[in-house]
Amino acid sequence: MRIVLGVSAGIAAYKAVHLLRLMREAGHQVDVIPTPASEKFVGRATWEAISGRPVTTSVFSGVDEVRHVRLGQEADLIVVAPATADLLARARAGMADDLLTTTLLATEAPVLLVPAMHTEMWNSAATAENVEVLRGRGTEVMEPATGRLTGKDTGPGRLPEPEQIFERVSELLAEIQGPTYAYAPRAGTFYAPDPQAQPALLGRSVVVTAGGTREPLDPVRYLGNRSSGKQGIALAESAAAAGAQVHLIAGIMDVEAPENVANITVERIETAEQLQAAVGRRAPEADLLIMAAAVADFRPTSYAAQKIKKTEDGENPVITLERNPDILAETVQHRRTEGTGPGVVVGFAAETGSAEADPLQLAQAKLLRKGCDLLVLNQVGETLVFGQDETEIHILTSPTLAESSAPVTTLRGTKHQAAEAIISAAAAYLV
Ligand code: C5P
Repeated sequence: MRIVLGVSAGIAAYKAVHLLRLMREAGHQVDVIPTPASEKFVGRATWEAISGRPVTTSVFSGVDEVRHVRLGQEADLIVVAPATADLLARARAGMADDLLTTTLLATEAPVLLVPAMHTEMWNSAATAENVEVLRGRGTEVMEPATGRLTGKDTGPGRLPEPEQIFERVSELLAEIQGPTYAYAPRAGTFYAPDPQAQPALLGRSVVVTAGGTREPLDPVRYLGNRSSGKQGIALAESAAAAGAQVHLIAGIMDVEAPENVANITVERIETAEQLQAAVGRRAPEADLLIMAAAVADFRPTSYAAQKIKKTEDGENPVITLERNPDILAETVQHRRTEGTGPGVVVGFAAETGSAEADPLQLAQAKLLRKGCDLLVLNQVGETLVFGQDETEIHILTSPTLAESSAPVTTLRGTKHQAAEAIISAAAAYLV
């Protein structure tokens, strides 16, 4: 995530170097904004070297890119460590006399101030009032540690240890990010968020099918379904974000396909047969195939070249249907017989359950019948319907991959969170 690390002019600035290192090692992008006076303690070169980013202190550097506004807007979190008594006073007053205070004023991101100063300054009525006002505005002001200070004095005012600050930073970032899940092949278990935990996808070829198919009856009518395409798009985006080269085969969708997005190519289809042809062309070369599309099981047996008309005798037209190819089952079958095809195949199932079986049992049977490696079950019910942004999924793993019987992982969250869980589940089986 993106952090702005502000450093004000206290001797404890040297400890912020270690804090920066902890943030970088955790994979965060950090822009350091020292106050001009703090450069007397730690110089710009140190911040630039460790953050790997350019460092400026004044609003008047890089004016063209409006740095004070941009850094504040882009940040997920702003941390100031050490925050001196002077910095607290300036933040409280809303002053904007250097790049750091201007950024604090221009941001909507959460702010964590970590004070460090002599005990007398911390205990002073002015500082106490500043802290109270800042906290009242929603700014988090950490309690300083108690211990040895610069001189011979001891007491509250010491900068907490970088590890302790980093722990709080990580908690705040986790709150901001919300739950994201990496898959663990054990029922009901998710591990901590870590987008970089899927190096298996870097440079891989991933094919995702998304949206619904449309089966024409005549030039103006068709049989369709309610698939929104959102889950498929989220999957394509998650895979691309993990460094895969994604080919998105997009059917009919309520939302825009991610055209012109790095690492994603989009191919449009309408009918199941067009989808079959597109998958047939792409799947053999893919490392991972995710069949999120809602494919019509049936299509009209015949297509009327002219619009079907109401007849004089009042007869209702009879539409006969025939089965569409099961593209998923066919691709898996092909992989088995030809030895070519996607390394990992993920199928989807939308089930309501029936009198005889619950949705999970139906999905388990479908996983075996289709022969795919993972099957994502979407429970379709009154509160969980097509097109919604929140979803509940169960990821079922084929018994041939999982050691014992197929483990099930359950997740309720946004479609992007579901996509991340599905992608990392699949990534675990890429060879
Ligand atoms: O049999 P059902 O339609 O429930 O199976 C759903 C899964 O099979 C989805 O992954 C869907 O993309 C795929 N499918 C297919 N070809 C069909 C029907 C479904 O590939 N004709």
